[in-house]
Amino acid sequence: MNSILFVCLGNICRSPIAEGVARSLIEEGGHSITVDSAGTGHWHVGEAPCKHSITVARNHGIDISPIRARQVKKADFHAFDLIVALDQCNYNDLKTLGCKNLVKLGDYGYGGEDVPDPYFFEGFEGFEHVYTMIESCVNRLLDSVRPEPVEG
Ligand code: 4NP
Repeated sequence: MNSILFVCLGNICRSPIAEGVARSLIEEGGHSITVDSAGTGHWHVGEAPCKHSITVARNHGIDISPIRARQVKKADFHAFDLIVALDQCNYNDLKTLGCKNLVKLGDYGYGGEDVPDPYFFEGFEGFEHVYTMIESCVNRLLDSVRPEPVEG
């Protein structure tokens, strides 16, 4: 497992958090897995993550402010070893586009539950829950894909 792409709808709220959390855990663990994120939609291409996502990540010591939104493309399905959808809608859209190496983040700790879309949340409330859910699932996901340490 060398590369993981996290995909949500806009690539400004949820998947940038997943990218930031994964990158931080990978760096901590001294692993060499590339991570990136993208959205199925095009509306926010080029934008920074939404301010509440930046804040909640910063509260946990992670800077996601340099991430810029991009739209997923079919070449990503070959360029990345694993594509991780943040909710069932994203999963279905990616399947329709022909993505095969696809899982849903909620399968890693929340019984298949979707990471709720915080775009229409009122204010900051709810972002902490979104963060907790993403962090817990990304941790489990990385546990399942990290290579075994080499003996001796
Ligand atoms: P995200 O949130 O998929 O977590 O980045 C959204 C961002 C934008 C929109 C929907 C969800 N939108 O409709 O523009």
